[in-house]
Amino acid sequence: MPIRPPHRSGDDPHPDLAPVAFLLGTWRGEGTGEYPTVARFGYAEEVRVGHVGGRFLTYAQRTWAPDTGLPMHAEVGYLRPGGPGRVELVVVQPSGITEVDEGTVVGTSITVSSRAVGHTSTAKEVTAVTRSFVLTGDSLTVSLSMAAVGHPLTGHLTAVLRRTN
Ligand code: HEM
Repeated sequence: MPIRPPHRSGDDPHPDLAPVAFLLGTWRGEGTGEYPTVARFGYAEEVRVGHVGGRFLTYAQRTWAPDTGLPMHAEVGYLRPGGPGRVELVVVQPSGITEVDEGTVVGTSITVSSRAVGHTSTAKEVTAVTRSFVLTGDSLTVSLSMAAVGHPLTGHLTAVLRRTN
């Protein structure tokens, strides 16, 4: 029997994704980063959010140095509906860190915090993360705070992105 091709991302998203469907698309923009232990820096960012018909959104982010184009941080993961008004986010990073985050979606504002952060044996110490994705008009503001390398929860990143498609 022939194998059916998979559901296409152009088909309708799963109905349970309606509260987070505002994130679907490719977003690009610029951000700034800081931490008590590092000098302030700028970065360019692209976030792609898609779906394949299942009850989750696909999430892929990459960043690069605005002046040289060289790669900086990147990450991939999945955003899952977590019951009424709730969302779950799992993320894998090339720095050897994984995050299991949960939180809320209110209108076009998502806020999550980590319930678990995993590390490879050579990864830097990160003990907690909070993230937000807030769409205001055309602008998606993406922010991240972390407790890391001995510091309590402190802002690390903020970027403002716009949809490119
Ligand atoms: C937009 C995405 C990100 C960018 C552009 C970025 C960039 C940077 C830069 C430039 C540094 C300083 C130099 C270095 O140690 O490599 C840094 C440090 C660090 N970042 Fe990020 N980062 C991003 C996301 C993240 C995320 C998601 C986490 C963890 C959840 C994270 C955790 C850290 C840690 C632990 C340090 C080291 C602090 C220290 O050793 O003093 N970063 N980041």
